[in-house]
Amino acid sequence: MDSIVVEGGTPLNGVITISGAKNAALPLMIASLLTEETLVLENVPHLVDVESLIRILTNHGVDYQVEGKRAGQNGTEGRTVHFTAGRIVDTIAPYELVARMRASFWVIGPLLARMRQARVSLPGGCAIGTRPVDLFIDSLRAMGATMEVEGGYVVASAPGGLKGAEYRFPKVSVGATHCAMMAATLARGRTVLDNAAREPEVGDLARCLNAMGARISGAGTSRIVIDGVEALGGARHRVLPDRIETGTYAFAVAMTGGDVLLEGAEAGLLERPLAVLREAGAEVEAHNDGIRVTRNGAGIRPVDVTTEPYPGFPTDLQAQFMALMTRARGRARITETIFENRFMHVQELARLGAHISLDGQTAVVDGVERLKGAPVMATDLRASVSLVIAGLAAEGETTVHRVYHLDRGFERLEHKLAGCGARIRRLAG
Ligand code: EPZ
Repeated sequence: MDSIVVEGGTPLNGVITISGAKNAALPLMIASLLTEETLVLENVPHLVDVESLIRILTNHGVDYQVEGKRAGQNGTEGRTVHFTAGRIVDTIAPYELVARMRASFWVIGPLLARMRQARVSLPGGCAIGTRPVDLFIDSLRAMGATMEVEGGYVVASAPGGLKGAEYRFPKVSVGATHCAMMAATLARGRTVLDNAAREPEVGDLARCLNAMGARISGAGTSRIVIDGVEALGGARHRVLPDRIETGTYAFAVAMTGGDVLLEGAEAGLLERPLAVLREAGAEVEAHNDGIRVTRNGAGIRPVDVTTEPYPGFPTDLQAQFMALMTRARGRARITETIFENRFMHVQELARLGAHISLDGQTAVVDGVERLKGAPVMATDLRASVSLVIAGLAAEGETTVHRVYHLDRGFERLEHKLAGCGARIRRLAG
């Protein structure tokens, strides 16, 4: 498996182009199952998770085609991909495919809505907690489906079609919101989803579904109203910029010092993390063409953070923020409330000399003067990138082993960082 080697101590200066959001692209691709017409998605990031989902979708009968590059388009731009589910040939999503990535479980909603049945393996994905699927089962059941768990599979059926329902999520879930919203587009009558996830990716999916002919209002608030329609059609939709990639590079610049324009980033998608970054001592300016982050000379101030559903501080930036706090002048407390086991980067950061102790769901980080390079191991996507960021600010060489997870969620990471002066390279393993 490949490794990434970082020689720390160089500030980042230049421009980093932000890719389309992985966590928007995945549900948007799944939405293609809802129609026999073609869904064209622009700005699809080139990632292992996207490729894995393409394999799952083709197994259901989806044809996909990558649009040829146009003159003037450079190799770094997101791709435009056409998805056509003219005929669903299989409503089973098998273990071998679903076990790799949790989001693939979400196909259950569209398959059930369109084909009135689905059999989907219980999911896998990053090992960051138990991550059950009860909210998916309960919300689809509320729409009249029979849902059973049998031999590691969730078996769903609604022979007479789904019916609109009022459902209140007992806990905010991004995936269950995506799934129930997609299913409800083809249900008979009105569905009201309360305590829905407000993440920008939910809003992006709703915009795309509406372009396909759905009638959804309120996406982006905690109450989403969906009036079911007979059928959906094709559409063309551009995937919104990746707010987690944006935050990751913003924290990296704060960590190393320097001056970087995050081109194509939208400040409105990550107000809370940017506010925290300013508190920590970086300068952050929103421009028309992106976000400029600078830190020159000033030390990093400690800031306490608690992860929360959007618009709170995202769990997907918790590890990266912890890397930044390892160099703060003082103590920062970082509390994880979304996933109970998302602290696997703690012991790896400690290898670089960080002082972190765990107190239940809170990590207490005592900033140190300097980090020192060491071999470390990546254990999940965001944990992996936190180690790269820490390595950029550490003295000497850091080797991040098993970067498989990084490739799931960061497009051309080492090229983007090297373009800003980082000494970083990939070793094929
Ligand atoms: C999405 O995962 C993201 N994945 C995650 O990003 C992100 O960390 C997470 O939302 C929270 O923001 C994608 O969008 C592809 P949830 P999801 O359902 O939908 C519990 C990354 O690094 N829960 O909102 O799987 C669950 O255990 C990834 O890019 C139930 O209890 O997250 C968790 O504690 C990792 N029952 C909480 O809800 C359920 O049926 C929130 O999870 C479903 C979830």
